[in-house]
Amino acid sequence: MFSKICIAEFVMMCICSLCHLDFDSTLVPSENTLFHWAQRNAEYIVPLYCFDPRHYVGTYNFNLPKTGPFRLHFLLNSIKDLRNTLRSKGSNLVVRRGKPEEVVADLIKQLGSVSSVAFHEEVTSEELNVEKRVKEVCARMKVKVHTCWGSTLYHRDDLPFHHISRLPDVYTQFRKAVETQSRVRPVFPTPETLNPLPPGLEEGDIPTAADLEQPEPVADSRSAFPCSGGESPALERLKHYFWDTNLVASYKETRNGLIGVDYSTKFAPWLAMGCISPRYIYHQIQQYERERTANQSTYWVIFELLWRDYFKFVAVKYGNRLFQIKGLQDKHVPWKLDMKLFDAWKEGRTGVPFVDANMRELAMTGFMSNRGRQNVASFLTKDLGLDWRLGAEWFEYLLIDYDVCSNYGNWLYSAGIGNDPRENRKFNMIKQGLDYDNNGDYVRQWVPELQRIRGGDVHTPWALSSAALSHAEVSLGETYPAPVVVAPEWNRHFNKKPVGSGVGPSARGKKGPSHTPKQHRDRGIDFYFSKSKNL
Ligand SMILES: Cc1cc2nc3c(=O)[nH]c(=O)nc-3n(C[C@H](O)[C@H](O)[C@H](O)COP(=O)(O)OP(=O)(O)OC[C@H]3O[C@@H](n4cnc5c(N)ncnc54)[C@H](O)[C@@H]3O)c2cc1C
Ligand SMILES: *[C@@H]1O[C@H](CO)[C@@H](O)[C@H](O)[C@H]1NC(C)=O
Repeated sequence: MFSKICIAEFVMMCICSLCHLDFDSTLVPSENTLFHWAQRNAEYIVPLYCFDPRHYVGTYNFNLPKTGPFRLHFLLNSIKDLRNTLRSKGSNLVVRRGKPEEVVADLIKQLGSVSSVAFHEEVTSEELNVEKRVKEVCARMKVKVHTCWGSTLYHRDDLPFHHISRLPDVYTQFRKAVETQSRVRPVFPTPETLNPLPPGLEEGDIPTAADLEQPEPVADSRSAFPCSGGESPALERLKHYFWDTNLVASYKETRNGLIGVDYSTKFAPWLAMGCISPRYIYHQIQQYERERTANQSTYWVIFELLWRDYFKFVAVKYGNRLFQIKGLQDKHVPWKLDMKLFDAWKEGRTGVPFVDANMRELAMTGFMSNRGRQNVASFLTKDLGLDWRLGAEWFEYLLIDYDVCSNYGNWLYSAGIGNDPRENRKFNMIKQGLDYDNNGDYVRQWVPELQRIRGGDVHTPWALSSAALSHAEVSLGETYPAPVVVAPEWNRHFNKKPVGSGVGPSARGKKGPSHTPKQHRDRGIDFYFSKSKNL
């Protein structure tokens, strides 16, 4: 039966659902199954985005703000971009403030002849609750619900595991299985024209941050992600990274960088928001490999996208254990809740320059490199022994690319209570700092009070002589903090042992985490695979 009106909804915080819906990557190529479905099945389509007040409250455990200024700004631009694209195709984006279940109920009442409501499925509890409520509203009002799976590279139905409970707990096993037994679905081109909105429906204003009672972000010229939200900038970025500069062909060599825009793809924010489809990226890589170069670097982008898929499927398999203090292994660790230590970490005042630089970058730009994330997460959980959920909720607040599955999955992994116990590693902040910021330029960029310490010495101010410190105009405990912790294994990487009362307590105090790995693992090992490399 041909339906009259379909409300295509983006229930989630991200317009991802929307983009997927409509144009998944829209506005260009997309498989956008939801959208194609709506085109075929309805005379009018109402693409809808709701600003859900539940996204602007506190985080679950520690009541941090849930949506930070950089992500909100990115979202608002994504919504504007989407509206422009939809308009250029004869449609529009209807914007409302309110809970999706209430907005949808109002629209069904107002429009009278709505036949179905469609959205992309999510996997985590807050999102599933919204879906459940929308479904209840539709059932009550006798409107059909149509849902689609989007957002991952491999479709859920194409996984080579008979049931999600069979999903391997080791990433490599997952990767090898999908790579050999599954296929990435194609992306379909977005239709040139879309079925219109029903006549007379108000489009609704896109709110400002102030309307949502949220602060505006302050732009920082040092940002490694100075990009805007929306599909158009996402496609522009891909064109730059692949076709204009060939940066993708050296991704594997640069991806552990810390400074600038080009050391990694920076696709994550657009992927998290649904502005670009991982399948589109995949097929572009295939094309690039056919037409230009195929090597480990081009493959490695797919390898990383598979981590993103993996964490999503892990969330499906483990449900709410993703958020629980004992993690996926149901493992008791005596995590501490020392809010003074947490404040020092989140504000970049730990006295460990590599950690502080990364934490300040995050607070001032909403972005941090993958290398930085692994280090600050290891520092919080393994060196400070703080509750990993503090770190996860701080990231949830600030990251532009916050993605519930990738964030919580990576935090569990870093905390050593994720899916793969063999991967339980503690990073050495000094070794990592010297390996990835050998000359200290990254630290000096974000920690200006250490600017006058030259070279790699900037990683260990507490180990410098008092003459060197006064020459650099640094006074520990005054102009820059003494370290809150000095792990014993750090000493191998600088000459002088820490002396004096300004130095904080040992990393391995009695109350420290019980799962501190053995010495031979205390190397800054590349997160995923380089057991062979001597880091
Ligand atoms: C503690 C911690 C928290 C994290 N939280 C998030 C998060 O909320 N959202 C998020 O997208 N990523 C998260 N990551 C993963 C990773 O750090 C970012 O995806 C990456 O830094 C984004 O930059 P990029 O797009 O330039 O990545 P690239 O290096 O260019 O990688 C390409 C794409 O692969 C995916 N990817 C790469 N590494 C990972 C990974 N470890 N896990 C999942 N996907 C990955 C991303 O989609 C990324 O855009 C987290 C990592 C850690 C250690
Ligand atoms: C891939 O190829 C590019 C260009 O030919 C080259 O610069 C790069 O070093 C290669 N990278 C790897 C990991 O093989």
